[in-house]
Order: sequence, then structure tokens, then C-alpha cells
Amino acid sequence: MNRKEHWETVYTKNKDTEVGWYQADPEVSFSLIEKVSPSRGSVIDIGGGTSRLPEKLLDHGYEKIAVLDISTAAITRAKARLTERAGHIEWIVADITEVETLGQFDIWHDRAVFHFLLNPADRKRYVELATLTLPTGGYLIIGTVALDAPPRCSGLDVCRYDAPSLAAEFSPAFRVVEETSHIHTMPSGKLQHYIFLTFERM
Ligand SMILES: C[S@@+](CC[C@H](N)C(=O)[O-])C[C@H]1O[C@@H](n2cnc3c(N)ncnc32)[C@H](O)[C@@H]1O
Repeated sequence: MNRKEHWETVYTKNKDTEVGWYQADPEVSFSLIEKVSPSRGSVIDIGGGTSRLPEKLLDHGYEKIAVLDISTAAITRAKARLTERAGHIEWIVADITEVETLGQFDIWHDRAVFHFLLNPADRKRYVELATLTLPTGGYLIIGTVALDAPPRCSGLDVCRYDAPSLAAEFSPAFRVVEETSHIHTMPSGKLQHYIFLTFERM
């Protein structure tokens, strides 16, 4: 099964509340975004899936929001949930490693997507696209599983990171401005350690 088929199957077979990364309130992501952009900049959520982040951003006055995901099923479900408010968001179905350009955004957010990129060439393309998409002074907020998390997520191998190893992936185009540890409680009740880094585009 290729990458797209995998994620289409995940979203077709599971309800939002059944996936391990489900959270009713994306409070860590939102607070990190708000911290760097109280002036309501533009935000792109990479691998947004069916996250509640877009409506939380809309609720707080963010006007230019885009959600990109490899899964058509996820994007279709997220749009349906937002009903008429879905029209205020740009929805992009694409594999982030195959996108040439996304235009410009002030903030790039990714919770639990970069860690699925096992191939260094895919990670290099990801960093190049983020560098192209963010202006100097823009922010990249990225959350991955931490070193002590299980080596697989959603049935796929993941790269686990600590702050130095994640920072090294984005250097020298980005410098770390904040490090946040987070323990996510999965719907099963199990705990999963995440690390979030906020980077500034140099
Ligand atoms: C663990 S889920 C996290 C979803 C969301 N960020 C959240 O926090 O609820 C990973 C998401 O990344 C998407 N994804 C995985 N690989 C991708 C890729 N190469 N390009 C774009 N999206 C991808 C999946 O479809 C899925 O929605």
C-alpha cells in the first residue's frame, strides 16, 4: 500500500475520535501559533487531517488559513464538519513531498506529519518548500513524537526526535526560538510524548 492509500484507508475506516492523535482541542498548537502571531497572520496547516485547528483559528480571527493533507477522505470530512465556514479556508489535497509551491504564509504548522518522512530526500524537499513558503521572520511550528515514544504510529515507522536532532533538520534556514514538550493522551488512554519546536525563518 502506498502512502496515499494508507492514509485514505485510515480515514475511511476510523472515526476522528478513534485515531491515536485525536484531540478535541488543539490547545498546544493554537497557543504556539498565537504566541508568535498575535497579529493574526496567515497559517498553513501541513497534514492537518481532520484536526480542529482550522475552526479554532477562525474563531480567533485568523483570516487566511490553508489546510493541506494527502488524504481526500480527511479533507472531505474536515470540510463537511465546518459546513459553510469551510469556504473561508483553502483546502489542498497533496503529498507535501511532491508540492512545488504553496504561495506565501506567515506561519507553517505541522503536528505529527514530518516524523513520517523516513527518506532524507523527502525531508530535504519538505524543508526546501517551507523555506520557500515562509518569508524571513515567518514561523515554522512543528510537533513530532519524542525519542521515548513508540517507534510506530498509525501502523507506520516514524523518525523520533529530540530538540537538537529536529533543529538540525531545519538548520541553517531556520533557528529555534522555543521548545515545548507535550504529553498527548490518546483516545485509548495511553500517553504519547511529543516535542514541539518553534522556528524563525532566517
Ligand atoms: C498523525 S496525523 C496528524 C493529523 C493532524 N495534524 C492532527 O494533529 O490532528 C498525520 C496526518 O498527515 C497526513 N499525511 C501523512 N503523510 C503526508 C504527506 N506526505 N503529505 C501530506 N499529508 C500527509 C495524514 O493524512 C494525516 O492526516
